[in-house]
Amino acid sequence: MTQKNTTIVPPGNGLVDLFVRPISYLRLSLTDRCNLRCLYCVTEEEASGCLAKLAPDELLSYEELLRVVRVAVAMGITKVRLTGGEPLVRRDVMRFIRDLTRIEGLDDVRITTNGVLLERYGRELYEAGVTKVNISLDSFRPERIEAITGVDCFAQVWRGVETALALGFAPVKLNMVAMRHVNDDEIVDFARLSQRLPIQVRFIEFMPIGGSSRWSADTYIGTDEIMARIAAIGQLVPVAKGRNDGPAEVYRLGADAVGKLGFISPLSHRFCSRCNRLRLTSAGRLRSCLLHDEEVDLRSALRDGSGDEAIRQAMLTAIRNKPEGHHLDEKLRRSGGDCHGRMSRIGG
Ligand code: 5AD
Ligand code: SF4
Repeated sequence: MTQKNTTIVPPGNGLVDLFVRPISYLRLSLTDRCNLRCLYCVTEEEASGCLAKLAPDELLSYEELLRVVRVAVAMGITKVRLTGGEPLVRRDVMRFIRDLTRIEGLDDVRITTNGVLLERYGRELYEAGVTKVNISLDSFRPERIEAITGVDCFAQVWRGVETALALGFAPVKLNMVAMRHVNDDEIVDFARLSQRLPIQVRFIEFMPIGGSSRWSADTYIGTDEIMARIAAIGQLVPVAKGRNDGPAEVYRLGADAVGKLGFISPLSHRFCSRCNRLRLTSAGRLRSCLLHDEEVDLRSALRDGSGDEAIRQAMLTAIRNKPEGHHLDEKLRRSGGDCHGRMSRIGG
């Protein structure tokens, strides 16, 4: 039963959008707060202290989040990622995570963290069933990490990485945003790390988002250049991937590498045709594309006494609105503009 302009929901097969992309992945931004001020995420003003934060009642409560996830799972969502801001700074976050991972039908809950609190929460996360982690790390040099994040936190983050590996998290992914004149001289060091540790290093192209980022054409480095620099020190062996593996192109650096390399190219190689995700911002708005500002207000539906059907309808509207692709490259050419949603609210 396929109708034009209607989201197609085949019984038993989960959600599919108008471009026949299966939608199975929900990213939850638990808070817009963060204990770091990464230069690609905040403005210079915000970096110096004045970060506008949502008021507590603007955030979805844990009960509201759990309700949304229950409805989403009944509709066919199978995978949830916790993001922020920094998800681990929200008060009582482990109580929420334990309730979340008990939701029947939700087998895959992951987290993206800056790693600062991972040494502290790693074991509890693992025991709650969150055993897959993405950690942001853009340099191995403590003074550089301080320059990028505003905080002298390298040692703490690295202990977080070691904690995740020691506990058996799999996969452990390191997110590295390569920026020219900032950390591009470490691209090869990051690649080498994947040869000896069971991690996936993910090189993410610097995106001009947030109305705030200090992105410039000069600072941006495309995946082709990143790969060329790595290929100069060894062979990049492609790793086959499944249909729902997300946007990264995955390789090993040499056939014997213990870990892997992932390349994420939102600008140079749009991967929108493989996008399977929906986002829920920390203010309770459903967003179907990171780089598209259209959102559906779910918070009102959660608070006006409506039943779960209103949540379902909001989800279906967001899916119906999911654009075929983003137009960041054209926008940049036209106006130097960017997408205006704040990364810390949308969820990285
Ligand atoms: N460009 C690319 N990646 C970004 N992230 C945040 N802001 C940007 C940006 N402007 C990613 C970082 C971080 C994750 C939370 O979001 O890789 O690890
Ligand atoms: Fe915090 Fe992540 Fe933004 Fe860095 S990128 S300031 S760690 S939310």
